[in-house]
Amino acid sequence: MGDSTAAKVADLLSQMGLDEKIGQMSQLNGGGGHLPEYLAEAMRAGQVGSVLNEVDVEIVNEMQRICVQESRLGIPLLIGRDVIHGFKTIFPIPLGQAATWDPETVKQGAAISAMEAAAKGVNWTFAPMIDITRDPRWGRIAESLGEDPYLCSQLGVAMVNGFQGDDLSETGSIAACAKHFAGYGAAEGGRDYNTANIPENELRNVHLRPFKAAADAGVASFMSAFCDLNGVPATGNRWLMDQLLRKEWQYDGVVVSDWESIVEMTVHGFTADDEGAAYEAVSAGIDMEMASSSYRDHVENLMAQGKISLQQIDTMVARILTLKFDLGLFDNPYTDPGHFSAPLNRSHLTAAKEAAVKSCVLLKNEQRILPLNKSDTNSVALIGPLADQPYEQLGTWVFDGKAKHSVTVLEGLKELLGSEVTVNFEPGLVSARETSRDGFAAAVTAAEESDAVVMVMGEESFMSGEAHSRANIDLPGIQEQLIDAVAAAGKPIVLVIMAGRPLTLERVVEKVDALLYAWHPGTMGGPAIADLLFGVESPSGKLPVTFPRMVGQVPIYYSHKNTGRPASEETCVRMEDVPLGAPQTSLGMSSFHLDAGFKPLFPFGFGLSYGRFQYVKITTSHHSIALGETIDIFADIINAGAHPAEEVVQLYVRDLVANVTRPVKELKGFRRIFLKPGERQRICFTLHTDELGFFNREMNYVTEPGQFHVWIGGSSDASLWAEFEIHE
Ligand code: BGC
Repeated sequence: MGDSTAAKVADLLSQMGLDEKIGQMSQLNGGGGHLPEYLAEAMRAGQVGSVLNEVDVEIVNEMQRICVQESRLGIPLLIGRDVIHGFKTIFPIPLGQAATWDPETVKQGAAISAMEAAAKGVNWTFAPMIDITRDPRWGRIAESLGEDPYLCSQLGVAMVNGFQGDDLSETGSIAACAKHFAGYGAAEGGRDYNTANIPENELRNVHLRPFKAAADAGVASFMSAFCDLNGVPATGNRWLMDQLLRKEWQYDGVVVSDWESIVEMTVHGFTADDEGAAYEAVSAGIDMEMASSSYRDHVENLMAQGKISLQQIDTMVARILTLKFDLGLFDNPYTDPGHFSAPLNRSHLTAAKEAAVKSCVLLKNEQRILPLNKSDTNSVALIGPLADQPYEQLGTWVFDGKAKHSVTVLEGLKELLGSEVTVNFEPGLVSARETSRDGFAAAVTAAEESDAVVMVMGEESFMSGEAHSRANIDLPGIQEQLIDAVAAAGKPIVLVIMAGRPLTLERVVEKVDALLYAWHPGTMGGPAIADLLFGVESPSGKLPVTFPRMVGQVPIYYSHKNTGRPASEETCVRMEDVPLGAPQTSLGMSSFHLDAGFKPLFPFGFGLSYGRFQYVKITTSHHSIALGETIDIFADIINAGAHPAEEVVQLYVRDLVANVTRPVKELKGFRRIFLKPGERQRICFTLHTDELGFFNREMNYVTEPGQFHVWIGGSSDASLWAEFEIHE
């Protein structure tokens, strides 16, 4: 906070009554298209600091006018909205954006979303969600940036920068919110809102890292998580919110509760009633209460009892007022939509298409059946319930995006192929959930009569997202049976999956020749997928999360610990290979499942291309470096294929011996490069020894001298490796 802002905040605070201060700490739900009189009245009385879920710009301007002109102190409002992966122009779901491994793309998507939302008067989004997610059953994995702290940090910061721009007061910049602090991604069993138990060391080394990165990048706000973290609900967790966030990290932005998460502390069994909940939330330092009214109802009384001090309240209100000054709301609280380019304009749609192109991950391409070739394809059978479902391709959290603006795969293919190639569209199933086989015969006929078969399947929008967890993450309904039926036509099958999570596809992968994972790709999913299928673009997405073979493997992630008995091909035993009556000791004695082995279906970082990338000649600048020095790691990458293509080059490290056990591999760098056929490029990653540190048993961040292994490759399965040492 600049000195002049601090002075203005102090001046304003000195004029405020307690009820006005509590008002600033209250965020109320908007009327969704109208301004209810009770809300207008509360605004006049200075009892509202923020409104969420109002995106009618005239109503937003009227609310600002009431606050500025009709309340005693004229304090403008924060207007919050969940702008998660687009406003009108919908980009791929965050998990899909994470598959781009491209901070620039993610930043641009956020900047466009901010611009479109700001045109409606929104000045605060509740994004990015940077919970580390290692459980695909959890519906909110869709909204996350995946399983890895480094990737999530890089992309989370890119999103923050995109939303907030260089200066929060500029037109089109909106405040971002790092959520959900903290541990929400570790909800037991993947059930939403559930308990998270995370030892402090793992919390610091894994779950907190993206939040620290966002705080360091200047994210304007944090949101507390719904969950109970190690026995204390995050919203009332003084260690987390005060000791760590405020004191250790020195974070001075706004902390908002999640929706009613303050009063829910009573449901958790942590407080006896709303008054107790308000007390715990204030004590933890939750500046603003979302949706519920425990602050309005109880803070005054808590102060009268001496449980809460005026200084505590002033500190919290000061943070809220500072954000309002930073956003420039005191200079101009109003939004003139005429100052903004139209939503869904050509450049926004182009950006959404490019993001969708980069987010698709090619997981299988037998016999290099993809890309399809326009010149030797007269007809394509387009089959599957998601080939022409404009709403379902948008994914979760699209409050403001409209299905009518989506371009589906059917439309995208027709547009790309024109009259040269016939598209025989037969969905086969009315929806992803449909259980009737009535449409199968027509789909099979379409396959028989066409040169190529493309099937588009997966999950409907509602099957992922908040409160939409699944225990079985196979393809829903009878989609797999439709693949079986179509396979009988004998044509190679290209399967495109749209989904909000990794699905368990082991059987399905065997049945198809190519598999393109498109997540929920957003408004421009159709044209992006059409371009990828026909080779206008090469797939370049990489998995931001491990794909299990079956749900019982969860959690399965690449940066696991080695254990004392790591599984290997030699020690891993398959159920079917065990003789009847086998004695207990014959079973491998290492860490695996008898019925699933120890490997995932697809590893983190994996993704194929139409190019053919080879990694050779890894070298390091030094064999040994001292603490405080840097090391360069080089490798050559060659595109030995016939297609120009982009590749995401990845750097992984292992610290062999440490004060606490370290993961078998940890992502430490990545870079998107473009190589023409036959082109070779030398890549250099530079690592400082600080980047090789971790939180030790005493919870201190340290880099320890010792041996390190380093890999460069196209996935976490990279095999090209070198080693180096760090000395004192
Ligand atoms: C979600 C938050 C969201 C908030 C406001 C809650 O249910 O957990 O992520 O920002 O609602 O819509």
